[in-house]
Amino acid sequence: MKHDDLALFKKVLIGSLYDESAWTFVSNELPDPKVSWLIQLKQRALAKFWQILARRGLYLLRPLPYDEDLRVNGTDWPLIGYSMIGAKRLDQLQIAVETVLDENVPGDFIETGVWRGGSCMLIKQLLNLANVSDRSVWLADSFSGLPPPKDQFDGKDISDIAFLAVSEAQVRQNFARFDLLDDQVKFLKGWFFDTLPDAPIDQIAVLRLGWGSLSFHHGCPQRPVSSRGTERLCDR
Ligand SMILES: C[S@@+](CC[C@H](N)C(=O)[O-])C[C@H]1O[C@@H](n2cnc3c(N)ncnc32)[C@H](O)[C@@H]1O
Repeated sequence: MKHDDLALFKKVLIGSLYDESAWTFVSNELPDPKVSWLIQLKQRALAKFWQILARRGLYLLRPLPYDEDLRVNGTDWPLIGYSMIGAKRLDQLQIAVETVLDENVPGDFIETGVWRGGSCMLIKQLLNLANVSDRSVWLADSFSGLPPPKDQFDGKDISDIAFLAVSEAQVRQNFARFDLLDDQVKFLKGWFFDTLPDAPIDQIAVLRLGWGSLSFHHGCPQRPVSSRGTERLCDR
């Protein structure tokens, strides 16, 4: 890949080339506690119906119109695509990686919460373009979705949303599709609380906190792995 192709690659990552990438699984629509009990009842009935269909390998989709603003800002979930962080955050990630390489900030790259792996695919693509083979890209994820919230301050319970649970095998396949899978790409599988404290990483140059990672930082033993000039980026 040449540098000129990067803009197109980023569009592929966020799925902004296809209207259908805005369609959504009905199962992804969270029950809204603010609507009337009758509508909540309808939502629950729909969710049950969806589960019955899903068990038979059938999925109910809502064909929402494609909205460029949502995709630029990373506020919808692409049905087609490899990252849900949106165009602005991908650009920000690119700047962070290129700055680290230009200024020789030492260390590896890590994203905690990778979903389909798109953000890390961009990092790996940038390393390939710069012929950098002595730094790793670490993908930390349960590869089975989010844990249930610890308490009422920990956000909505979305632990049963299958859309957010992407297996390690699937993420590896996504990398392989773009010829990006090699020994530089490393997987840390499990809950952050278990995997990150003892992760075999000496130094971090860019740390990207995928959405869902913030609760990990409450009560998790911290390690001084950041190097001078480390970039820290967040989903939200
Ligand atoms: C919103 S997605 C991340 C989106 C991703 N950064 C992208 O580029 O599209 C959240 C991811 O974090 C993972 N996750 C959330 N909390 C976790 C935890 N405590 N331990 C391990 N993985 C977690 C989920 O499995 C999911 O893949």
